[in-house]
Amino acid sequence: MLIRTPRGWELPERLATPEDIFLNRRALLAGAGSIAAVGAMPELAFAADDPTADLYPAKRNPAFKLARQITPEKINSHYNNFYEFGSHKKISEKAQALEVRPWEVKIDGEVEKPFTIGIDDLIRKMALEERLYRHRCVEAWSMTIPWSGFPMQDLVALAKPLSSAKYVRMETFHNPKVATGQKAAWYPWPYVEGLTIAEATNELAFLVTGAYGKPMAKQFGAPLRLAVPWKYGFKHIKSIVRFSFTSERPKSFWEAVQAREYGFWANVNPAVDHPRWSQATERDLATGVRIPTKLYNGYGAQVAHMYKGMEGEKLFM
Ligand code: MTE
Repeated sequence: MLIRTPRGWELPERLATPEDIFLNRRALLAGAGSIAAVGAMPELAFAADDPTADLYPAKRNPAFKLARQITPEKINSHYNNFYEFGSHKKISEKAQALEVRPWEVKIDGEVEKPFTIGIDDLIRKMALEERLYRHRCVEAWSMTIPWSGFPMQDLVALAKPLSSAKYVRMETFHNPKVATGQKAAWYPWPYVEGLTIAEATNELAFLVTGAYGKPMAKQFGAPLRLAVPWKYGFKHIKSIVRFSFTSERPKSFWEAVQAREYGFWANVNPAVDHPRWSQATERDLATGVRIPTKLYNGYGAQVAHMYKGMEGEKLFM
């Protein structure tokens, strides 16, 4: 992303947040109150009119937990990358212009039978669950979020890809009238991302429909976004309208903008710097403190096997 290098790289490690702090929801609320700046932020409107609101809060899956403090919702929801609404972090108000119903999702390409499905039908076909995930942006900040959604492997099963399909290409909506950032002709709209089928069916790949126990706020990428927590945040495509199964590796949005800085794989690695800044540490948005970054963002046990024998590839940018 075209950003300034943040200051404060050199914070001593003794100031890092201990990794053994795990807060439950009640403690989270108490913690949120203690962060002075958060109090000044406007409350989010609760999406009670969302046709799937009755499905939340989804049952938490205890297999996906954190050893970090959950970032207060007010912080997450006012610090977003969503270039469709501007190339800065304060897009939350502008993003409210996005109409998330009706919303259709197209499944096409190398599948048994292409189809289009309404978002509410899709969500109700899936068993929603809540997972606590880390989120590490390539810009060297991070948060932790209680996402709700369903495993991406369930969508792949529904799509019935042919054996020739090796990748899933995902696409965001394109509507420059509403998303005025899409009028910027120097970006290759719509936003596109891609995964291999192995990645898309990895147990961690998650399609997100909700956050913080309710339908997801628009700035998070409602009504459907991706969470692949071992990869940098730009892989987490928002407001998806299309999944295309293909035998050719898709070129993602940021790769098309600047391939030297943003690659297809984009796995988190503290030892591989971005050409313009270090990736050794990250600023935890909940505490403002810089903490060491982990290989695969701490998810190596679940994902490292997928990259065995691929050492020739640029796996970490
Ligand atoms: N998806 C779309 N469609 N447009 C974007 O600009 N930004 C990406 C990703 N998905 C982006 C997107 C980047 S760079 C990051 S870090 C995350 O969304 C940010 O997600 P968040 O706002 O929920 O933290």
